[in-house]
Amino acid sequence: AIGDPEHGAEVFEYCSGCHQVGAGAENGIGPQLNGIFGRTAGTIAGFSYSKGLVREGRNGMVWDLKHLDAYLENPKALVSDTRMSFDGLETQEERNDVMAYLRQFSDN
Ligand code: HEM
Repeated sequence: AIGDPEHGAEVFEYCSGCHQVGAGAENGIGPQLNGIFGRTAGTIAGFSYSKGLVREGRNGMVWDLKHLDAYLENPKALVSDTRMSFDGLETQEERNDVMAYLRQFSDN
């Protein structure tokens, strides 16, 4: 296990103003996050992404632990022109826990 999914559900409160996950999740300010693990960046149907995230996906970036960790620590350090305005999760523990939470809604 990468982290504590129950604590990750609390950490997700930083995300939930913009993202939904789980049964019935819909795109909002950010894309819904079901099945994010193993998915090519910028490919959730019906969401209008930045050019930056689409470009990264076309260049082959897939959301695995390594890329999610980097994006959640500092989105613009991974994708300089991403539209996700979020300062990032400072601690490795928070990032591991929110990834463990999100992984419950992914097959990969
Ligand atoms: C994109 C996760 C916080 C707005 C994404 C993506 C992930 C993600 C994995 C990429 C989705 C994809 O490629 O399909 C998270 C998590 C958060 C968080 C786990 C909390 C820790 C936020 C917040 C906002 C936001 C607070 C709004 C202020 C967006 C937007 C995108 C995005 C607009 C699309 C970015 C683009 O097109 O460049 N987020 N996010 N996110 N997120 Fe977040």
